[in-house]
Order: sequence, then C-alpha cells, then structure tokens
Amino acid sequence: MSYEHKDFISSKCLTREEIGYILDQAKAFREINRREIKKVPTLRGRTIVNLFYEASTRTRTSFEIAGKRLGADVINISASSSSAVKGETLMDTVKNIEAMAADVVVIRHNCSGAVKFIADNVKAGIVNAGDGLNEHPTQSMLDLLTIEMAKGSLEGLTVTIIGDIAHSRVARSDIWAMKTCGMRVKVFGPPTMIPVAVDAFGVEVCRNMEEAVSDADVIIMLRIQRERMSKLLIPSEREYSAVFGLTPAVMEKAANNPIVMHPGPINRGVELSSVVADSGDSRILDQVENGVAVRMAVLTFIAVAKN
Ligand code: CP
Repeated sequence: MSYEHKDFISSKCLTREEIGYILDQAKAFREINRREIKKVPTLRGRTIVNLFYEASTRTRTSFEIAGKRLGADVINISASSSSAVKGETLMDTVKNIEAMAADVVVIRHNCSGAVKFIADNVKAGIVNAGDGLNEHPTQSMLDLLTIEMAKGSLEGLTVTIIGDIAHSRVARSDIWAMKTCGMRVKVFGPPTMIPVAVDAFGVEVCRNMEEAVSDADVIIMLRIQRERMSKLLIPSEREYSAVFGLTPAVMEKAANNPIVMHPGPINRGVELSSVVADSGDSRILDQVENGVAVRMAVLTFIAVAKN
C-alpha cells in the first residue's frame, strides 16, 4: 500500500488503507523524532514552502520542523508580511513560488475550497494546512494516530466531539476519517454551533453532556471559532462553559476511561478546565508530538510523488 496522489487536500477522499499507511509511516518517523539526532536525508535537495494566510502555532511550526528533519530546505511565508497585502492573489502567489522550483507548498487559507482550487491548477504538490471551515486533514491524521496509540486500535471506538462543530475544519476532517475507520462519532454543542446539514456527516447529535460523555472512549473538545462568526452565537462564555465545558465533574460521568484531546489553542476555563487539560487523561501534547511525525509522512509522500 502507498499514498500516490500529487496533493494532500482532504480526509474525505482517503481510503482506510491509505489512512493505515499514513499512520504506519508516521509511527516510524515518531521513533526518529525520539532519537538524539532527529534528522534523516529523505528530502535532501527538495524545497518546501509554508504559505500561511491565517495564524498558527502548532501546524506551521510542525510543518517546518518536519521538513527540516527530513533534510529539505523550508521557507515560511506569512501572508501579512507578503505581497498579498499589496493585492496579489493566492493563485499568483503560488505560481511565483512554483517558478522558484518549490516541490511542495503547504497552504493555510481562510477560504473553504481555496487550497483544492490551487492544487488543481499548479504542478507543485499542495498540502492543505486548513482551509476555512472545510478541512484540516493532517490534524485528523495526528488525531487518529494519537487515538490508536492510546487505545490500541480505531475500529469500534466511540468518539465524542464537543463544542463549535459548525465552524470547525478539525471536526469535519476528523469525522470523515473516523467514519472511514469504522468509528462511532457523536457530537454535542449549542444548537447554533451544530451544522444545519449534520445528518450528512453520519454522526449522532447528543442532547446533553451526560449523553455525550457517558460511553465515549475519546472526547475531543473544540474552541469557539470566533474568527468564522459574524456575531457571537452564545449568550456568554460563562453560560457556555457551564453547559458545554469539560470539567472533573463531567469526567466522572464518563464510564469508559476516555482520553481527552483538543487540537489547540485551548481556551482554558471556557471549553476545557485546566484540571482536565493537565490531567493524566489528557493526550493534548501527544497530539502535538504526533503532528510532527504525521507531517513528515505526508511531506515525504507528496515530495516523492511529484517526481
Ligand atoms: N491545531 C491547529 O491547527 O493549531 P494551530 O492553529 O496553532 O496551527
């Protein structure tokens, strides 16, 4: 089995076999990342450009570390300090980067579908680092790796995603990949933050926190994505936290010893209490570690597939 596509755009398109291959390759890179010398020559002589039109800590840093550990030359561009501020389009920007012989361009953009549009119109390999509220496919791979390492397998597990589902590209990519892996997915959040067409996702919508957590093997908490709302969709953070926040008291209702995950950044005391975030149930920093390994795997597939 292998991953033989020019680009890495969506979790929805991945087969179970491709997901398994990505996770296996990421496990091998994870071992390399735990060595004293963390560098391999896999992508020596290749050029990777990280082009970010939105803020990022984890994704951008881990793509940079991943490329450097593979021996590639890595260049980071923030839209705010690029010629995008002078009106240059995304397409023109990527075409110019491509003219400099970049092998892979990793793109984060606030417009859903923008990354696929670019991928369909350039020769360079394109990796989606998050497009609007559409998808964040490498996040879903690192989430699956974290779950598989904690629980031993994926098939048959119950995952509950709690919070702002409607505006979350992480939720979408996770749901598509988890359904492909035979997992049961439940969601819980304010009605204003549940997608209108939620039935299309094949998930169960919970009515209260007890229903959400009682039989969960994995609980994924999401922050409120204010940047994707024209107006705040909840009365107040205090009321949101009281109903939708994960606290030690809520964890007592969870019977299956669930692990707790969060893609970050956490809003401590809003969707997740510090006690739970820093507890033994939390796998949040494992997610971050696995993000580097998953991105090493994905960059390798895309850089090699291009040639
Ligand atoms: N999980 C995630 O995408 O985090 P950043 O926005 O910091 O990259």
